[in-house]
Amino acid sequence: MDKVNSRAIAATTLSKVLSHQGSLGTQLGKNNTVKDFPLIQEICFGVCRHYHRIQAIISHLLDKPLRAKDLDIQCLLMVGIYQLFYMRVPDHATINETVNATGFLKKTWAKGLVNAVLRQCIKQRSALEKMLQSSDEETRFSHPAWLIAQLKHDWPDHWLQILHNNDLRAPMTLRVNLAKNSRDEYLEKLKAKNIEGSSGNLSDSAIYLATPCQVTDLPEFSQGSASVQDEASQLVPSLMNLLPGLMVLDACAAPGGKTAHMLESEQSLTKLVALDNSASRLNKLQENLLRLGLQADVTVADASQPDAWWDGEPFDRILLDAPCSATGVIRRHPDIKLLRRESDIGEYSDRQLSLLCALWNCLKPGGVLLYTTCSVLRLENDDTVQRFLHQHQSAKFHAITADWGVECLYGRQLLPDSENSDGFYFSLLEKSQGTSYPLPI
Ligand SMILES: C[S@@+](CC[C@H](N)C(=O)[O-])C[C@H]1O[C@@H](n2cnc3c(N)ncnc32)[C@H](O)[C@@H]1O
Repeated sequence: MDKVNSRAIAATTLSKVLSHQGSLGTQLGKNNTVKDFPLIQEICFGVCRHYHRIQAIISHLLDKPLRAKDLDIQCLLMVGIYQLFYMRVPDHATINETVNATGFLKKTWAKGLVNAVLRQCIKQRSALEKMLQSSDEETRFSHPAWLIAQLKHDWPDHWLQILHNNDLRAPMTLRVNLAKNSRDEYLEKLKAKNIEGSSGNLSDSAIYLATPCQVTDLPEFSQGSASVQDEASQLVPSLMNLLPGLMVLDACAAPGGKTAHMLESEQSLTKLVALDNSASRLNKLQENLLRLGLQADVTVADASQPDAWWDGEPFDRILLDAPCSATGVIRRHPDIKLLRRESDIGEYSDRQLSLLCALWNCLKPGGVLLYTTCSVLRLENDDTVQRFLHQHQSAKFHAITADWGVECLYGRQLLPDSENSDGFYFSLLEKSQGTSYPLPI
């Protein structure tokens, strides 16, 4: 008997995600040295992507739901069904491996059940596929009903496209360090290593890889010639209009993709303060800066409490890449569909507003704050900005004129795209001159 069973690991990983013990990324990270990690990853991502459809099949085939304490067996059924319906694993191998996994989960009593359900799936495959096609929207689109309703409300012309694109696999996108090499030069370096890449259309630093690879296979990765970053977030430095001598605050900075990009783009800033309330995420930011040979003033603090971290010297530019529902990056994090609740969205909006209000005091008159989220929901985007503008007469919304994205009331929205970027919202807020700001503490 093998010492590890990938299906059992996938089922355990999924049951931890479904019981809110951490995100899929965190749970998968615990097994990334296992030999079959790519298979485990493929299965776990796939089950999250198709969760509602797979769940509908299980409910159809089981006489009664499994007990809550058998969530691991429920997940093992999902693992088996995903392989049968969405992977090219031969049916007999799927059944053998998945049934064997019951032993690794110490639940051999479930052998017969797993075997019977998977065999029924094979026998009734076309009837089950028809059943899925005529099911409710939650099952057909494999998204929670509340999110479908919200997307229909917020994006009456785009919601179908968003749901479709959310289930695609996101490309691997690089940000070329233009301080070290041009994009064309880096494309040549990739070619020399037989890695196929093409230029992005939105940002002059973005490269899309035809096939994802390990970062260690990328040319000069350890020397900082390139980083992995979605193209949408690569628009940040140009929108910030960075200039030599400016004081910049990156208020929710970790793991530091945008901090590093701002420092690469403008190497003569007076200071860049990178703040985050998560020490472990800031460790990642430090690692990234070290690899890229960049420096920032890194501080662990709650950005909504400037009294605790601000020395009173106002900033010319502030980036607030706010904590959000991440509904724009479901392609990369399909577990978002399972983890987010409808009630979370209003809570995010309140937190975003309180961050905006607190940080506004730290901005120089004439300075600019860029508010961004990777959400596609209006409550966290235009509505949050609108609430902020109603409370702050010194704040003026500055229109972003661009040939990308959808123009919104107070900013621009990129929607998850079938070929390109993630869903991302941008709003530029300018502080009118002559506004007084609090004196240093
Ligand atoms: C969208 S992520 C930022 C991503 C980052 N800007 C980048 O490009 O790599 C949001 C970050 O906000 C941080 N955060 C959440 N609430 C915060 C608060 N009150 N103060 C500071 N950071 C906070 C989280 O720890 C998380 O790292």
